Amino acid sequence: MKKIIVAIDGYSSCGKSTIAKALAKYAGYMYVDTGAMYRAVALYMLQHGITEESDIVEALKDVQVGFALQADGSQHTTLNGEDVEGQIRTLEVGNRASQVSQIKEVRAFLVRQQQAMGEAKGIVMDGRDIGTVVFPQAELKLFLTARPEVRAQRRYDELVGKGEHPDYEEVMRDVNDRDYRDTHRAESPLRQATDSVVVDNSDMTREEQMAHIYGLFDKLTT
Ligand code: DC
Repeated sequence: MKKIIVAIDGYSSCGKSTIAKALAKYAGYMYVDTGAMYRAVALYMLQHGITEESDIVEALKDVQVGFALQADGSQHTTLNGEDVEGQIRTLEVGNRASQVSQIKEVRAFLVRQQQAMGEAKGIVMDGRDIGTVVFPQAELKLFLTARPEVRAQRRYDELVGKGEHPDYEEVMRDVNDRDYRDTHRAESPLRQATDSVVVDNSDMTREEQMAHIYGLFDKLTT
């Protein structure tokens, strides 16, 4: 069976990581959550009170982001060897990640590592620039989208599930702000690769969506 690279891009809270994980499992591929890598960098800067762009760039030499495989097959993000999976999934770190991801040197630092992970193919990677910058040669590129209010509700439910007490209006504002920043930044803005398949999952069940995506994958690999 032919090994390929699957690039999954799209807006925040579109279910990218759930889909990417399911596809990686289906294919027996490695999964890489690049958003987690930007979040880990953001967490480091928050922990050390580093806010100036030049200081952030300088501090990158002290940042090592990795993934630790868990017994149940899932992966936890590590920052300098410490498991930070729980700490990076907050609104605060998400917002900071959106900011640090606008810095050219931060992107170059992480893109280099992401490209190295894909050298042997057999990988599913999700993010914002995977099909456009990290792997423009990816055989399968998916661009996920859903209506903003659908995404805000999903994000809200996810935060409640984690025991947080979010305000829906704030989550909605956050979704809109992040969309704006992700699509308007100067460095590698979120955009659809011309050869990507667009999947709008606002009104799709998870099963419908996965059947569609598995079909696309099978066609390319068998
Ligand atoms: O997918 P996420 O919410 O975990 O991503 C966190 C932030 O990182 C998001 O605001 C945009 C940024 N990001 C990016 O710029 N490029 C990527 N490949 C992945 C994430």
